[in-house]
Amino acid sequence: MSTDVDAGRRRFLTASVAVVGGVAAVGTAVPFVAAWQPSERARAIGAPIEVDISKIEPGQMVTYKWRGQPVWVVSRTPEILDSLPGLDERLRDPGSTQDQQPAYARNDFRSIKPELLVLIGICTHLGCSPSYIKQDQAPLGAGWPGGFFCPCHGSMFDYAGRVYAGVPAPTNLVVPPHKYLSDTRILVGVDEGST
Ligand code: FES
Repeated sequence: MSTDVDAGRRRFLTASVAVVGGVAAVGTAVPFVAAWQPSERARAIGAPIEVDISKIEPGQMVTYKWRGQPVWVVSRTPEILDSLPGLDERLRDPGSTQDQQPAYARNDFRSIKPELLVLIGICTHLGCSPSYIKQDQAPLGAGWPGGFFCPCHGSMFDYAGRVYAGVPAPTNLVVPPHKYLSDTRILVGVDEGST
């Protein structure tokens, strides 16, 4: 008789512990999962940005911010575009063979529209932000065809963000995913062709 009671109590206790354990597991699982949900701020930081390019003058560069990084939009003149093919022999990867741009920017100008260049403004050496230096301007002076110069260790990039040979930066500057919403608006962070 007492053996039956003990066995019944043991089953009850075992079942109770299992249920309590299950409740505890659920109770801890919810906040843990919740902690992995991105906050509104994190969503905003990672979200695409829409930029108005209607006021960019020919030859001018404007900087925007996406995911905490500078995004440059450069309005390239016909003279700038004409100068690009002549630099190929001085560049490390003139044909953009390395994966530093979306497929739709793997072309002679590294862009969707030749006259507008979109780049991440971070040096591919150690992450400094290069300066936009127009043709023949200091500190590179006479003979400099224009482009980007990183003052940290002297890396140079042309007007398509292609890296010169013999400098510390190993690869071309990155072209971020982007698409045109209209002639005057670009969405950075979303690929051309996606809806
Ligand atoms: S970080 Fe740009 S050259 Fe080193």
